[in-house]
Amino acid sequence: MSPAPLSPSGPAPSPAPPLRQRFRKRLLDWYRANGRDLPWRNTDDPYHILISEVMLQQTQVDRVLPKYHEWLGKYPSLAALAEAPIDDVTHTWRPLGYNIRPRRLHAIARQSVEQFGGQLPSDHETLMSFKGIGAYTAGAIRSFAFRQRAAILDTNVARVLFRVFIAKGDPKAHAMKRQLWGLSELLVPRKHVFDFNQALMDLGAMVCVARKPRCEVCPMQRFCRSYPWTDAPSRPKRRAD
Ligand code: ADE
Repeated sequence: MSPAPLSPSGPAPSPAPPLRQRFRKRLLDWYRANGRDLPWRNTDDPYHILISEVMLQQTQVDRVLPKYHEWLGKYPSLAALAEAPIDDVTHTWRPLGYNIRPRRLHAIARQSVEQFGGQLPSDHETLMSFKGIGAYTAGAIRSFAFRQRAAILDTNVARVLFRVFIAKGDPKAHAMKRQLWGLSELLVPRKHVFDFNQALMDLGAMVCVARKPRCEVCPMQRFCRSYPWTDAPSRPKRRAD
């Protein structure tokens, strides 16, 4: 049987092994000096990781922090969440917006109780069988909770990898996303996978930000294909008819 995929991948640009090593080392060194101390970085509980990652999907860290603590106080386990009335769960979520995420979390909790004794599985396919767990969340759970060599790709990570290693083309195109998944797989190290993936997210959130990236403090500056950054790529002006 072929091994489980690290993540859904496509053909990817392939930085040579020495460059991969440099990228990993620089990222980890930078993270150890500059990374944020966040509560979901001091746990390897798969449920805690699931909650934090689902909350962080569309919400800023500072809004997630109080809700993360409140949620885990109210629903300390997948079994507790599964037993809670859905109205209570959506009400607890409400300050994070009206959306499908609390219902999805409730359904995940129920499925985990029914099929896995209230635990989350650790393999890619089974995680992906949960409605509401996509490739990103599966990679996050595998790398953060189970410390497996699993890639992640969210908006921040995609921006970092696109700028450093690709720089040309449409970063939002479907084919590009496959390439970026491939790159993330190639780069994720065997050791320190937890720190490496958290570091990628912090670099995207703190330095390689969407507008006005802080290239002057970026550890990747020397080999970044987008450096020097120019903020507004010149678009052809529309002619007045
Ligand atoms: N955004 C998504 N996941 C995150 C994490 N683990 N830490 C900080 N920001 C995030």
